[in-house]
Formats: sequence, structure tokens, C-alpha cells
Amino acid sequence: MSSASPSASTLPKNVLIVGAGGREHSLVKAVLASPARPRVIAAPGNAGIATEVPVFAVPADDVTGLVALAQREKIDFVIVGPEVPLSLGLVDSLAKVGIPAYGPKADGARLEASKVFTKQILLKYGIPTAACGIFTEIEPALAYLRSRGAPIVIKADGLAAGKGVIVAQTLAEAEAAAIDMLAGNKFGAAGSQILVEDCMFGEETSILVVTSGRDYVILPTSQDHKRIGDGDTGPNTGGMGTYSPADVVTPELLARIEREIVKPSVNAIADEGIDFRGTLFIGIMLTPSGPSVLEYNTRFGDPETQVVLPRLDSDVLALLWAAALGKLAGVRIATKPEHAICVVIAAQGYPEAYPKGDVIQLPATLPANVQVIHAGTALNAAGQVVTAGGRVLGVTALAPTLRAAADAAYAVCAQIQCPSKVYRHDIGAKQLNRR
Ligand code: GLY
Repeated sequence: MSSASPSASTLPKNVLIVGAGGREHSLVKAVLASPARPRVIAAPGNAGIATEVPVFAVPADDVTGLVALAQREKIDFVIVGPEVPLSLGLVDSLAKVGIPAYGPKADGARLEASKVFTKQILLKYGIPTAACGIFTEIEPALAYLRSRGAPIVIKADGLAAGKGVIVAQTLAEAEAAAIDMLAGNKFGAAGSQILVEDCMFGEETSILVVTSGRDYVILPTSQDHKRIGDGDTGPNTGGMGTYSPADVVTPELLARIEREIVKPSVNAIADEGIDFRGTLFIGIMLTPSGPSVLEYNTRFGDPETQVVLPRLDSDVLALLWAAALGKLAGVRIATKPEHAICVVIAAQGYPEAYPKGDVIQLPATLPANVQVIHAGTALNAAGQVVTAGGRVLGVTALAPTLRAAADAAYAVCAQIQCPSKVYRHDIGAKQLNRR
């Protein structure tokens, strides 16, 4: 980072990382690597995070409990991983007791918690995005989607654990999704308002922007794999694997994305009176007519974080601290030239029902360039690592080429033993085949 960034002596000494997924395990590793050598704790963490730092059994949605934990442990900086505590106002509550945090307050978190709110901002400020209709009643929604035809996208307005976006290939599928949400209460209040959006075609990319008011730093590009199955088949998930850099985003295209999307988005959010200090994660479709916004998220992506952070050649703690304090102006980051990949190991059945409690056996040793990041893992009574979520592990590798990174990660995936393990075999294939 540039000399504008805080020096190690002014960085926080006691850091709490909130969350329990692969994103948070990656954040823990990155913050532990800071030259400031902070004391790090996590809540609630997972079995992997617990091997690195003390964990406290306070759920990520327990705002009162987390504030009390931060005060008790004399925490001077909180990094909030998931969207739910952000939308519940954890950062607002921490500010009230004088503890700085990385992540937006509830007004900024609304950019993820309400897709309608975001769409209205995108349209108001002329930021490229798909045409859509917004509905609370079923009959006008059905009339609109029939007038647009399939394929078409149905989105629940609120947070739905990554399941609220249906890319309907037929009108029957689209009608069923709209009826489920508006009439069938499928996502409760989150689905009482829906967007019916034109389907965009192209490759997707994830652009993570560390933001502090009107100042921002764009992190290395990455590409996620949302579908559960090889060849982008089956239902959408939270993300089955990522790689970075996403070469489909050439330097010229990244400059266009910054000009047409990133800068206007950051300024629009500030113009709306939101002092956004956190990650603005912009999901972008690279359509034949140009990049277009799919969604905003207001936190690091998962599993994007697992490939983006290892490629930073800068102090992640200093970067996030500068953003939280509103001192990001002039801060620059350095990026490693290596390619990173993350292959997610999920439990059979995910994203629907899946077993929990299956014992996981990891290889005794790992190659120096491979890390096993824990997501849905826990320790059982016998002290064994077991599955505890749909996405269980992320096998990440860093290497001079994407091919070498993929080979290293997949060799470890094959060695991991777990009765319910499933993973995609084609993470990075689009980029590899393009070459
Ligand atoms: N990988 C997509 C997300 O974090 O929402």
C-alpha cells in the first residue's frame, strides 16, 4: 500500500472477525498475516478458524451479544463478514459504543438487503442494468412476465440466503416462481415484493470494491461458478468455486467497468446520503453490448474472498482499517502476479437438504501453495472435524498459471475424505479453454 496508508503502529491491536464461513476463514488468515501482528478473535467461527484464533459462540445475527463480546474482549476493530449482521445494524451498534468496524451501517447494507432499493438507485443514476418491473401483486406480475417472454429472471426483494433469484428458462417456470414468492410466501417477507428482470447473457465477473465514502480501491477481478453442477448445470448456489484474475476482464474492460459502473455507483451511494465504508461487491454481466450490473452485495464475496485476498501483496488489515476510518484517499494496493483458484467442497444435496455430522479427513500435509479453507465445519464430541453446512471447505491454490493452480487444488480435493463430499470438476475451465 502507499505511504498514505496507516503505519503498523497505528493499526488496531485487537480484532474481532464476525462470521462462520470460508470468507471469514480467509479474512482471519489475511489479518493474522498483517505486520501489525494483531490479536484476532472470531465469532462464531468454524472448526478451521478455531485452529488459528480463539472463537466465541456468539451467533453472527446476535447484535447485542457481539457488541458485548467486543467490549468484554477490549476489541478495537471489528470486521463483519456476512450480510445479515450488517443489515441488522451491527456496525451502527458498535459505533454507538465507540468501536470502529469494517462494513456498512444498516442504510448501506440495504443495497444488498433490498434488490428493489438497489434497482431504483441504478435506474435513477443511469448505471447499466437490465430492464425490470417491480411487483407486490401477482396478476400484474404475471401479465408483465408474459409480455416479456422467457428466459426471464424473478428476484425476491429481500435476503433469501442466496436462493431468491430464479433464472426461469420457460414462462411456466417464471410464473411458478412469481406465484411461490408473492402468493405462496416462499421467502416470507423477503418475497412479498419481487423484481421481474430481463435475462442478460454473457460471462459474469465479481468486482469487489473496498469503499469509503467517495474513495475506493478495486480488488483483483474474479469469476464465480454459481450452479451446483459441471458445465453450469443444476440449481444456483452461493458459489461453487472461483478463480482470480478473471482474464475475460481485460485492462481495457476493467477501465470501462470503473468508468461506467464502479465510480458512478460509489458516487450514487454517497449522493443518496449513505456513508458507505465496506466492500461494495458488484456482480456484473459482461453482455455483448457492455458490462451491466446484476446486483450489489455489501460484503466480501464467498468464495471470491478465498482467491482475491491471497493475491494481495498489501496489508489487508491496513486497507480495511483505512476504509473504516474514512482515510482511504490515496491508498493503493499491490497485487501478486500468480493465479488463484478455490474449489468448493459441498455436502451432497446442497443447495437443498444435505447431511450434517459427516467426519472429514484432511490430508496430513499440504503442498506449500495449497490451503484448505473451512466453511461449514464443526468439531464433534470426539474432537473430529465434521460437516456442518452446505458448503464445507474451499481448497485454494496459488500458482504461476491457472492450470498449475487448478491441478494443485484438484489433487488435494481428491485426497480429502468425507462420505458426502461433492465438488465441481470444471472450476476455471472457461478461462483455461479460452486459452
Ligand atoms: N459468491 C457470491 C456471493 O458471495 O454472493
